[in-house]
Amino acid sequence: MKVGIIGSGGREHAICNSLKNSSKITEIFCFPGNAGTENIAKNIILDLDNFENLKNFIFEKEIDLIIVGPEKPLVDGLVDYLEQFNINVFGPNKIASQLEGSKIFTKQICEKFNIPTAKFGIFQNKNDAKHFLKNTNYPTVIKADNLASGKGVYICSNEKESNIAINEIFDGKFGEAKNLLIEEFLEGEEMSYFIISDGLNFKSFETAQDHKRVLEGDKGKNTGGMGAYSPSRLINEEMENKIINKIIKPTLKGLSELGSEYKGFLYAGLMIVNNEPFLIEYNVRMGDPECQTILPKLKTDLAEVFLACCNRNLNQIELDWTNKKSLCVVVCSNGYPDEFKKHIEIENINSVELNEHNHLYHAGTTQKDEKIYAIGGRVLNFVSLSNNFSDAKIKIMQNLDKLNWSGGFYRKDIGYKVIE
Ligand code: AMP
Ligand code: GLY
Repeated sequence: MKVGIIGSGGREHAICNSLKNSSKITEIFCFPGNAGTENIAKNIILDLDNFENLKNFIFEKEIDLIIVGPEKPLVDGLVDYLEQFNINVFGPNKIASQLEGSKIFTKQICEKFNIPTAKFGIFQNKNDAKHFLKNTNYPTVIKADNLASGKGVYICSNEKESNIAINEIFDGKFGEAKNLLIEEFLEGEEMSYFIISDGLNFKSFETAQDHKRVLEGDKGKNTGGMGAYSPSRLINEEMENKIINKIIKPTLKGLSELGSEYKGFLYAGLMIVNNEPFLIEYNVRMGDPECQTILPKLKTDLAEVFLACCNRNLNQIELDWTNKKSLCVVVCSNGYPDEFKKHIEIENINSVELNEHNHLYHAGTTQKDEKIYAIGGRVLNFVSLSNNFSDAKIKIMQNLDKLNWSGGFYRKDIGYKVIE
């Protein structure tokens, strides 16, 4: 079977690597991939906004299955487009992708089905939003409605900060804004909960804890994610039942009432407050770096899992996971998440020690003349599986010492909540 993966991050390299191990797969294409995928797949440069070109390429190469990594093509309706041509695609359709594409869409489902979430208001202009905030308690949360790569969320501690947020959003910092959301600040501990679904059935796809802030101690600006561990320390059977019954099932019911269904990974960003889960946001894909952290734990053939989702028989597949703990540390270019230099060589990359339990997934990298260069903000993901998180971290740190890259940095405290 030939498979194509859309995306270029660590998530896509991890997916590519798991598929490489499948006996079913004969060839992998990555659109566009990175230096890591280049060794196991064919990297293809195509304009991904041009769905027709992509479809033609899929037919020309007789690709049997497409996996969509990032959210943008999903929200733009790539799945709906390719399915018109009877192409197997793993990922949700355009309506279902509104769960990530529009925070207001999700909040409306939450309201209708009593899904626990932060109290919120929707505002159509600066004056109404600012007027509302005259009588609010701080901190308060202000969010752009559109896709903003995780950047459209402001946690404001006073009126001055909230005015800046409102102005930036309505002035178009995240694209044209017709609405914004003002939300109650939930105080608790975050957790990411994943499912995989074929439209009829779903299964848990494990939990993880991301570290979104750039600096140690969870300080500084928000990033795409600086590291993660799996499982979350907050998950147990009782919590999982609450998440499924109070959040996941009502959401899937809401989609079916809209005449849609959910096929793909669904990522619930949760805040656990007094042992109760609240939905903060949905993402219609795996997380990055959560995917790199979770996938190496999966023992089941990933190609069979994706195929089962496209054939609507996920119920016939058993997902088999190792009990090991998994930790991921992300290496970023100096300067990230602000400006950073590109095309910096990563000299010692071949000196790191990789094996069955120690993985290196590339993100913003490219290869030229046998050398690897950083071209993105997040560059490399070191993942280690072990019987406990501290051993996993020791292995990662040893590899980071070997890498000893002056062009980048990483957080040394990833997993501090689960490591003494
Ligand atoms: P989001 O992009 O919606 O995940 O938001 C980014 C981050 O902002 C989340 O990971 C949380 O840390 C934080 N956040 C978002 N909404 C809330 C909320 N209502 N209360 C507290 N923190 C929040
Ligand atoms: N790591 C957060 C995300 O993928 O959205």
